[in-house]
Amino acid sequence: MKILLLGSNGQLGRELERQLSSVGSVAAFPRSALDITNHRAVTDAVLAIHPNIIVNSAAYTAVDKAETDAELANAVNAEAVANLAQIAQKERAWLIHYSTDYVFDGSKPTPYVETDATNPINVYGASKQAGEEAITAVDCQHLILRTSWVIGKDGNNFAKSILRLAAERNSLKVISDQLGVPTSPSLISKITIDAIRAIKQDKAWPRGIYHLAPQGVSSWHEIAKTVIAYAEQHRLPLNTQVADIQAITTAEYPTAAKRPLNSQLDTDKLQSQLSFDLPHWKDDFLAVARDIVKELETV
Ligand SMILES: NC(=O)c1ccc[n+]([C@@H]2O[C@H](COP(=O)([O-])OP(=O)(O)OC[C@H]3O[C@@H](n4cnc5c(N)ncnc54)[C@H](OP(=O)(O)O)[C@@H]3O)[C@@H](O)[C@H]2O)c1
Repeated sequence: MKILLLGSNGQLGRELERQLSSVGSVAAFPRSALDITNHRAVTDAVLAIHPNIIVNSAAYTAVDKAETDAELANAVNAEAVANLAQIAQKERAWLIHYSTDYVFDGSKPTPYVETDATNPINVYGASKQAGEEAITAVDCQHLILRTSWVIGKDGNNFAKSILRLAAERNSLKVISDQLGVPTSPSLISKITIDAIRAIKQDKAWPRGIYHLAPQGVSSWHEIAKTVIAYAEQHRLPLNTQVADIQAITTAEYPTAAKRPLNSQLDTDKLQSQLSFDLPHWKDDFLAVARDIVKELETV
């Protein structure tokens, strides 16, 4: 099985590069080697490699910056994705693509299912929605894995920012009224591999969108407390303790891009395809916290 991995220097891309070799030979391209907005270069790479599967972990993910950078966000998250879908269709390759809870407006009081209407409230979410729609319109063999709040050991993310700020300050204010769960690149990679194994065994999951997140519900405030508690237990020197993390509302922390208040994804559809049970978010996240804290201890 030949796998073309795009965006291999991101949080998810780096983990995919580590894990995907268990299911095939991987040609991994960071942006510096292959910019997916260069449609000609992407076509050339696909024609040279003839992958059975294209895994696209490249994305424009700067949610606030996207508000004033819509053209680039759309070029990466929508136009380049439409090009990938067309190439996958021509080459009869599978396209595995990742999307986001930010395609929803967050007004639903319960977890979102795959068939719920999308209604993004920021430019990033709209660009990711356009990418999903482009794939669905071409209808190549595809899986769109919609995930939420990706936090891993690589790259920059919320948990690392909280630990950095907790080392600098005596207290922190963190939003508690946005509900969702952190999802580790390691879990997303494991699920991607499960899907690829099914393709290899001619038992491919039905093409379409799947919601991918661990079980349970959390908030940014709870995630912040969890990572600080873990760091405290491991005696990482911090100025902020768990008790110093105050809960605030979204309204008290204005950002350039609006965020949905409800980011919960119903994962029953995915669970019915998987060969293992989705973990609880705390178990998934604590493995990430362990890796991040371990790395800080050695600095
Ligand atoms: N992060 C989240 O909280 C979150 C939540 C829900 C869904 N998702 C989705 O999950 C997927 C993976 O996200 P992530 O957290 O791994 O994001 P990430 O860490 O920002 O990684 C994205 C990668 O895409 C690369 N990239 C950007 N523009 C590119 C281009 N034109 N050509 C090729 N590569 C390009 C970036 O390159 P550089 O390294 O050079 O910048 C980066 O390595 C994305 O589809 C994202 O939309 C993320």
